[in-house]
Amino acid sequence: MKYKVIIVVGARPNFMKAAPVFVEFKKYEKIDPLLIHTGQHYDNNLSKVFFDDLKLAEPHFYLGVGSGTHSIQTAKVMIEFEKILLEQNPHLVMVVGDVNSTLACALAAVKYRCANQQYYPLIAHIEAGLRSYDWQMPEEINRRLTDSLSDFLFTTEPGAEDNLIKEGIDTEKIFYVGNVMIDSLLKSKKKAEESEILTQLKLKKKNYAVLTIHRPTNVDDREDFKKLLNALKKVSKSIQIIFPIHPRTKKMLPKYHMNTDFLKIIPPLGYLDFIKLLIHAKFVMTDSGGIQEETTVLNVPCLTLRKNTERPVTVTMGTNIIVGKDQMKIIEETDKILQGKGKKGQIPKFWDGRTAQRICKIVYDFLKTNITVG
Ligand code: UD1
Repeated sequence: MKYKVIIVVGARPNFMKAAPVFVEFKKYEKIDPLLIHTGQHYDNNLSKVFFDDLKLAEPHFYLGVGSGTHSIQTAKVMIEFEKILLEQNPHLVMVVGDVNSTLACALAAVKYRCANQQYYPLIAHIEAGLRSYDWQMPEEINRRLTDSLSDFLFTTEPGAEDNLIKEGIDTEKIFYVGNVMIDSLLKSKKKAEESEILTQLKLKKKNYAVLTIHRPTNVDDREDFKKLLNALKKVSKSIQIIFPIHPRTKKMLPKYHMNTDFLKIIPPLGYLDFIKLLIHAKFVMTDSGGIQEETTVLNVPCLTLRKNTERPVTVTMGTNIIVGKDQMKIIEETDKILQGKGKKGQIPKFWDGRTAQRICKIVYDFLKTNITVG
């Protein structure tokens, strides 16, 4: 008998975090890793292309949950995931990041454990302890609740442990292992260089900026969105802005009747194309979490279009600057970058490509010591 470990993915930012862990677990003779895709993201360019680019195996189970309100989506994942728990009775459920699928599967797993009066499944959360302290963000709710349910809290940066301790989490459950998303980035960098995306978009290296915006706080309010577009229009007078557009943002644009001709809008990109675009960008403007970390490792200046970040190490050590929707600040920081005075950074400890190794070893050593399989 082997230890059964379920790894959950649901949305775009999960795939590059789960891939290295799944591959690493495969190397353990006594571990049987199962990949579950909830189907929170289902479009090919938000899901399948990542499986192809990361060479991630087909999921063992696809729950087909799709879009919906937060409650509907979370509840549907719970209902479907419980069926998998009943069928598989895993020893451990591993969730990553902060999307609705992350919380839904952690919650379903602890409830299943209680109902069956079992010691397992244990819950492991990768990317634990990040906090924006902004309760308007659905991800903040997902992070807090998932951490409170987890038995293993794998953290990416030093401040995360302090956040968890403040919330009363036992230090024995917290493991500073580094950043598993950076495992994927470092592994894929060379392959990404082979992408033809710069040629396809007729771009010259360091002669364009990349933009991503999809957070409800930026795109769901007409006035906020307008403010941001005004600032971006000014930036576009100095440098071309490439904007791979998320479906949420694409849906909102026609409703606002705003001119966006100053942006080069393209469909969402696959993993390798996007990494190539990041590597050679002059700078990046984003409201994504993961991109703040990727730009730090790639040493590309990043302007974060939010009023806070749950990933402060990208600001204290990395290339990230929080600019919010402040037009003056956006222009000021853009000018500095264009004059060659962009922020340089250092790479945080353990963002070294070996985080999945550390995580799997911790999990395996624990399972071996505490749960007997035949
Ligand atoms: C989700 C995550 C967010 C993450 C983002 C990355 C939550 C609460 N949010 O936000 O943390 O940064 O993914 O992309 O989990 N849609 C499609 N095709 C798809 C999926 C969605 O067109 O494959 C459209 C649907 O209209 C849907 C909307 O995008 O209603 C939003 O999708 P959803 O998964 O609810 O949230 P995201 O904004 O993608």
